[in-house]
Amino acid sequence: MITAYVNGSYLPLAEARVSPMDRGFLFGDGAYEVIPVYSRRAFRVDEHIARLARTLAAMRLANPHDAAGWKAIIGELVARNPWEDQSVYLQVTRGADTRRNHAFPGPEVKATVFLMSEPLPVPAPAQLAAGVAAVSAADIRWLRCDLKTVSMLANCLLRQHAIDHGCAETVLFRDGFLTEGSASSIFVVKDGVLRVPPKSHLMLPGITYDVVLELARTHGLAHEVRELLEAEVRAADELWLSSSTKEVLPITTLDGRPVGDGRAGPLGRQMYAWYQEFKRTVMRNG
Ligand code: PDD
Repeated sequence: MITAYVNGSYLPLAEARVSPMDRGFLFGDGAYEVIPVYSRRAFRVDEHIARLARTLAAMRLANPHDAAGWKAIIGELVARNPWEDQSVYLQVTRGADTRRNHAFPGPEVKATVFLMSEPLPVPAPAQLAAGVAAVSAADIRWLRCDLKTVSMLANCLLRQHAIDHGCAETVLFRDGFLTEGSASSIFVVKDGVLRVPPKSHLMLPGITYDVVLELARTHGLAHEVRELLEAEVRAADELWLSSSTKEVLPITTLDGRPVGDGRAGPLGRQMYAWYQEFKRTVMRNG
């Protein structure tokens, strides 16, 4: 049985209910986080809670819990679910008013807090060895992609675009520059140098993005954080995607053309090994 949390109560997910008047449902007016849990320890939980706080502040929605409060709820949810490794989904919306109105409700309307957990999916060895296929598309999202809001229609359309083409992810370009994937950060390797676009309002500040850059720094892998032209992405030796649930995965074809020699490259394999080592030594031990 999966245990969820709704507004102060832990209950079976199948019994969890929110109102159809909830602004998350009516307007996509909410924030979310996806937090990986290794050996029942929420990884980089402070960073996820800080990112949530930034999203809520930008949405002008009062944060219903402080960091200690969030950690207590997440810890209890993890303890009540059956898996050692989990993916915790956390959502805060502006709550349910009595009538539909774009403008914010009054202070009497409380935020809705919902959490659930799922087993953490680890990428299959075959997928890691072969890499995944990606397509590209114009980044049609709004200009606050740094906020992790539940208004995800554009991301859903863009991910489905990948699925429709038999691919795993869509790589997004805006005005000729790489932004990110529909639900991942995108890294480029050329001539032994790892490159990734800088954080801005056009992309989500990925927690895994930070981990990958930290690992590059720790292990002395040459790297640059700078704007990347679409042409540079198409001429890459290696492309990787990263996210809390996918870790680091090689992209071996883009729009049906091979990336580099079309095989998972050596730096991607190296980064994957560093990431697994980091998981064993740090993530599972707090
Ligand atoms: N998505 N960019 C976008 C648009 C994302 O949705 C995500 C993660 C990332 C990677 O961020 P992080 O490393 O913090 O997971 C980048 C989550 C996993 C999701 O929506 O399920």
